[in-house]
Formats: sequence, C-alpha cells, structure tokens
Amino acid sequence: MGFSMSELKKKTENSSSDTTEDEESGEQKTGVHCCDKKDKGDSGVGMGVLFFIASFAICFLSGWLLFPSLLYSKKEQPFNFNHALHVAETGGCESCHAFRDDGTFAGVPKNSACIECHESQLGETEDEAIFMTEYVEKGIEVPWHIYSKQPDCVFFSHAAHVTGAKMDCVTCHGHIGESTTMKPYQENRITGYSRDIWGENIWGVKKNSWDRMKMDDCAECHQEETGSKGACFQCHK
Ligand code: HEC
Ligand code: HEC
Ligand code: HEC
Ligand code: HEC
Ligand code: HEC
Repeated sequence: MGFSMSELKKKTENSSSDTTEDEESGEQKTGVHCCDKKDKGDSGVGMGVLFFIASFAICFLSGWLLFPSLLYSKKEQPFNFNHALHVAETGGCESCHAFRDDGTFAGVPKNSACIECHESQLGETEDEAIFMTEYVEKGIEVPWHIYSKQPDCVFFSHAAHVTGAKMDCVTCHGHIGESTTMKPYQENRITGYSRDIWGENIWGVKKNSWDRMKMDDCAECHQEETGSKGACFQCHK
C-alpha cells in the first residue's frame, strides 16, 4: 500500500511541475491577457490528473479488496470446536486423528469419538448445546468444512508423510491443534475449492510452509526432500 501511494504521489508531483513549465512559457509569449484561458487550461489538466488518480485508485482498491471477497463465499462451521481445550483433555492428537490398523489416516473424528465424554451435556456453552441437540441426539455426523480439502483428482497420503517421513502436522496445517476458535471456511465460487489451497495472500506470497498448498507447494517440498518433483500419477488419480 505504502509503495503504491508514494508512486501515486510522484505521479502527481511530476504532472504538476509539467503544468507550471507550460504555464510559464505560455505567459512569456502571450502576456497577462489570457488569464482566463490559462485558468481553464490549468483546471483541465488538473481534472485530468485527478480523474486518472481517482480511477486508478478505484480500480486498484477494487482489485485488491473487492476481488477476494467476490471470489470467495464465507461459510460458518456448524459450531465452534475448541482444539486447545480438547487436546488438554485427551493429552494428544491421536485419540481423534488416529491411523487405522491398515495404516490409512482416519481424518476427522466421527461422533463416536466424542460420545465417551459427551454422553450428556458437560458444560453450559452454546456450542456444546448445538453439538448435543443437533448432532449427537439426532445421530447425525457433523458436516465440517475441511480447510485443507484438495480437489478430487488429487491423491494425498498422511501415512507417507506422518508415519513414513515423520513430518509434523504443523508443517502443512499450521497451528490448528492449538487453536480455540475456528475461522470461517472460504469457498472459491469458480472452482468450489477451499481458499487454503491458494492461501490468504492474493499475491500468492508465502511466509510459512502451511500458508498454501497448491501443486507447486507439494512439488517444491518433494524436490527438496527427495530430489524429484515426482510424476503426475504420484499425486493424481
Ligand atoms: C477431541 C478430538 C480432537 C483432538 C484431540 C484433536 N482434534 Fe483435530 N479435529 C477434531 C475435529 C472435530 C476436527 C474437525 C473440525 C475442525 O476442523 O476443527 C478436527 C480437525 C483438525 C484438522 C483439519 C483442519 C482442516 O479442516 O483442514 C487438523 C489439521 C487438526 N484437527 C489437527 C489436530 C492436531 C495437530 C491435534 C493435536 C495437537 C488435534 N487436531 C487434536 C478433533 C480433534
Ligand atoms: C476426553 C473427553 C472429551 C472428548 C473425547 C470430547 N470432548 Fe468435547 N468437551 C470436553 C470437556 C471437558 C469440555 C468442556 C465442557 C465445559 O465445561 O464447558 C468439552 C467441550 C466441548 C464443546 C464446547 C466448548 C467449546 O469451547 O467449544 C464442544 C462443542 C465439544 N466439546 C465438542 C466435542 C466434539 C465434536 C468431540 C468429538 C470430536 C468432543 N467434544 C470430544 C471433553 C471431551
Ligand atoms: C505433508 C503435509 C501434511 C502433513 C504433514 C499433515 N497433513 Fe493433514 N492434510 C494434508 C492435506 C494435503 C490434506 C487434504 C487431503 C485431501 O483432501 O485429500 C489434509 C487433510 C487433513 C484432515 C482432514 C481429513 C479429511 O477427512 O478430510 C485432517 C483431520 C488432518 N489432515 C489432520 C492432520 C494431522 C492431525 C496431522 C499430523 C499428525 C497432519 N494432518 C499432517 C496435508 C498434511
Ligand atoms: C513439506 C514437505 C512436503 C509437502 C508440503 C508435501 N509432501 Fe508429499 N512427501 C514428502 C516426503 C518427505 C515424502 C516421502 C518421500 C519418500 O518416501 O521417498 C512424500 C511422499 C508423498 C507421496 C507418496 C509417494 C510414494 O511414492 O510413496 C505422495 C503421493 C505425496 N507425497 C503427495 C503429496 C501431495 C499431493 C502434496 C500436496 C498436497 C504433498 N505431498 C505435500 C514431503 C512433502
Ligand atoms: C507433488 C504432487 C503433484 C504432482 C507430481 C503433480 N500434481 Fe497436479 N496437482 C497437485 C495438487 C495438490 C493439485 C490441486 C491444487 C492446485 O490446483 O494447485 C493439482 C492440480 C492439478 C491440475 C488442476 C486440476 C483442478 O481440478 O484444478 C492439473 C490439470 C494438474 N494438477 C496436472 C498435473 C500434471 C499434468 C502433472 C505432471 C506433469 C501433475 N499435475 C503433477 C499435485 C501434484
């Protein structure tokens, strides 16, 4: 933002110094009589510059601020799930995010993993009340929106990364396991994919390994870790 504002300022400065030069030379030739004319010409250029800046700013800001909010629709999760509270209660991630006996990853836990504690209402929070009345009592699984969900054509294996390569959850997911609240899920209106694939930053800037998870991000790490980006069929069904 700061960079482009100073650019804009420079542009204004340049164009106003241009006008003063024209003004001076014009005055030398025609003398004092054409004051009216000079004023008109001046305000014309001034208006042009103003108009240019205004439209530039509008386009720029609408691109920057409006486009992401138009491109993504926000969806609230069914209710808030407090990871920090539950990790303290259970002592780790495995009780909910386990690997099955065949080595495959169980993913998000079903209600059966919750009912051992939430047989009946434990506390007084609104979130727990929604969970109990809308899902546990009705026997319906919670329809969580999965932030990290990849397109159906992508094959991903937690076993290869967590069991095999001994990678930490944080590397790819960030600090979800320590969070107390869930951010809204954002769905790309064109592709239907989660925003977390492209990332929050619309320029695609990445500061942390978990900021986005596009094809290039998978391949970049595979290149570093294994010396090869891998064949298409490795990640595509
Ligand atoms: C008591 C059960 C429970 C425990 C313990 C637990 N989780 Fe979860 N986890 C969930 C539920 C329920 C969801 C789905 C809702 C959500 O996304 O928060 C989930 C979702 C996730 C997701 C997927 C987010 C997404 O949508 O892409 C990650 C990553 C995750 N948990 C990491 C962890 C880590 C790391 C730990 C341990 C530090 C942990 N969890 C411990 C229940 C649990
Ligand atoms: C080891 C026991 C245990 C398990 C397993 C467990 N919970 Fe909880 N849960 C608690 C306790 C204790 C509280 C705090 C109750 C209070 O005092 O408000 C709680 C609170 C909650 C709340 C409300 C509090 C908040 O801040 O969000 C929700 C919603 C919830 N649990 C959902 C779940 C879901 C969904 C699962 C299964 C994925 C689950 N719990 C599994 C023990 C457990
Ligand atoms: C190498 C990166 C990577 C690591 C490490 C990783 N994950 Fe994931 N995780 C992903 C990707 C990518 C997806 C989306 C997979 C898909 O949609 O097919 C995902 C999906 C999930 C989901 C949602 C699964 C579902 O059923 O939709 C949960 C829960 C999850 N991860 C938890 C964890 C936990 C807990 C750990 C640590 C034990 C972990 N992940 C480690 C990349 C990773
Ligand atoms: C931060 C590093 C990292 C990221 C990010 C990552 N991977 Fe991996 N991946 C690995 C490592 C390390 C291995 C293990 C390589 C080995 O065993 O030779 C692996 C293995 C795999 C394998 C198994 C290959 C085999 O032949 O067994 C698949 C499939 C895979 N990754 C897909 C993905 C996809 C899809 C993504 C992105 C959504 C992804 N990975 C993101 C590091 C990463
Ligand atoms: C390391 C894993 C990996 C490899 C290797 C890989 N891809 Fe992908 N690819 C992905 C992931 C993850 C996505 C989804 C995220 C995205 O769009 O960037 C994707 C998305 C795509 C898409 C867009 C699909 C859609 O629905 O948006 C195409 C097309 C594609 N890949 C083609 C290829 C081809 C062709 C190759 C071989 C040259 C290849 N991929 C190799 C991981 C991989």
